[in-house]
Amino acid sequence: PFLLPLRNFSIIAHIDHGKSTLADRCLTGTIQKKQAGKNEQVLDKLKVERERGITGKSNHSMIHEFNGKDYLLNLIDTPGHVDFAWEVSRSLAACQGALLLVDASQGVQAQSISVFHNAKERGLKIIPILNKIDLPAAQPEQIAAQMQATFGIDPSDILRISAKTGQGTQEVLEAIISRIPSPSGRIRAPLKTFLFDSFYDRYRGVISLISVQEGVLRKGDKISSCHTRKKYEITELGILHPEEVPTQSLNPGQVGYIACNMKQSSEAHIGDTLYRTGEPVEPMEGFQETKAMVFAGVFPVDSSDFPKLEESINRLTLTDRSVTIQRESSSALGQGCRLGFLGTLHMDVFRQRLEDEYDANIIITAPTVPYKVVYHDREVIISNPTDFPEVTDATARVKEIQEPVVQASIIVPEEYFGDLMELCYSHRAEDLDHRYLDSGAVSSRIMLNCILPLSEIVTDFFDQLKSRSSGFASFDYEDAGYRKSDLAKMSFLLNGKPVDALALIIHRSAQETVGRQWVKKLHKVIPRQLYEVPIQAAIGKKVIARETLKAMRADVTAGLYGGHYERKMKHLENQKEGKRKMKKMGTIDLPQEAFFDILSNK
Ligand code: GTP
Repeated sequence: PFLLPLRNFSIIAHIDHGKSTLADRCLTGTIQKKQAGKNEQVLDKLKVERERGITGKSNHSMIHEFNGKDYLLNLIDTPGHVDFAWEVSRSLAACQGALLLVDASQGVQAQSISVFHNAKERGLKIIPILNKIDLPAAQPEQIAAQMQATFGIDPSDILRISAKTGQGTQEVLEAIISRIPSPSGRIRAPLKTFLFDSFYDRYRGVISLISVQEGVLRKGDKISSCHTRKKYEITELGILHPEEVPTQSLNPGQVGYIACNMKQSSEAHIGDTLYRTGEPVEPMEGFQETKAMVFAGVFPVDSSDFPKLEESINRLTLTDRSVTIQRESSSALGQGCRLGFLGTLHMDVFRQRLEDEYDANIIITAPTVPYKVVYHDREVIISNPTDFPEVTDATARVKEIQEPVVQASIIVPEEYFGDLMELCYSHRAEDLDHRYLDSGAVSSRIMLNCILPLSEIVTDFFDQLKSRSSGFASFDYEDAGYRKSDLAKMSFLLNGKPVDALALIIHRSAQETVGRQWVKKLHKVIPRQLYEVPIQAAIGKKVIARETLKAMRADVTAGLYGGHYERKMKHLENQKEGKRKMKKMGTIDLPQEAFFDILSNK
């Protein structure tokens, strides 16, 4: 069956427009016919893959009959969130076509546009599909007009389906076969293989997902990497159907998996070209490396648990290589790790997985983005506020400070436009412009474009966007480099001593608000001491905000924890050992749990 004519495709869509539902529907539909009884297994496997993490490292093949002929259809999975735009583009590199799925009740959203352009730039055949036509709120005619206005798509090319009920999904499979070209690539040519994904298997080591561009790849072949020039031998190869099915060879256009003697995930360089050892080829156009854009320190609540925490982190990064790790030590929190993520969603997902894996509370410091300090003679990227210079003027030879910015696009119904402009401006938007997305007839929707500092969207921007638009706004962004910015390091002092784990990098326009807010929070959480403790926020030598923690009165015993006493006790009980580790912060002792509180409910 593996020499059948091929189609390689992806499903691209805005989040929640029904990608997974359609994928499941296609798979079960076709598999039912060919392998009756195997359904459950297929779905189980899909579930496991999904649980493996949000970065979706799967690729599924199915056989479909069309006009009396069998075809092998390869669905190459793409992740569905803006943090992973880069991974979408590398998955698309192995395809000749893409199903552009748009929810018929919601219409074109911000990511519909970015994934469309991504697929278009790669020259893929795009099959436009309106999904969820079973919904009473579906407006297929209007949305089709919108797709025509936005993408220049002929409405008669648009398929109308319900992935949920199965209506129209047969036509989708047929369109894949009739509209998407089969992969080209010569059999009698030097081997050229594109590596687009990899994961770690406990038993076999690194498994890479590859697409053979030219030539034939066989078991036992000796291959080399264009990127590292390292040599390997193929020990196993095959296709994912959707379980791994070993085969003897893979032909041009085929997408499959290989196991070779790669020991570490880092050897499988995404975007690499593999060739037959001794027959070097021109590498295919590579990819930008994934860049960590959000950093945070992770510490165990109980410092003696660090080895266990580190082990858990290492185990998780085997299956999610986009996380970067560095050891970090803090005088307040002890030994920990500084982790880098693609975005905040990525961070949240990882944190969840880490808490499950490690089975205890962790302290995560406030997220920060990588800043650039431009000195007269060099540039330094700083991803930890602790390393940020206290003084940033000419006396410190600092020319300027730059921060990463993104090109943001927001799509929103007209009635929320004013509110969202305000939201953008309050997050330091620049170069804001907008245009109407619909050409007339349909209820008007506006696309708003602007430059936003990345640091402004890593906290609560997305939540506010949703709440200010009653959930109707959609948001997408891409890296737009660095811009000069008026930033400073804010330190927090207890009893006159700075606490390293609390330092923040902020824009000076927000210094009062942020300073006051954090000082208040610290005041609420820090237990009273035998003497008065000043709590201060400072930039350089200048104090921006201050609260004073009154001395504990001798007769007060239960007042240790202010109003939070019961909650704190409960929290303590949740700790496995239940014993209280005190950390010195400046000259006062503070339970680790207080840090947990300060940093977790931002
Ligand atoms: P992510 O995995 O989060 O990117 O979302 P997705 O695009 O894969 O969407 P998913 O398939 O998870 O569907 C999102 C929601 O829409 C789910 O609750 C589905 O049950 C629902 N849904 C998908 N297709 C249809 C459809 O044709 N009709 C209706 N009524 N609901 C659908």
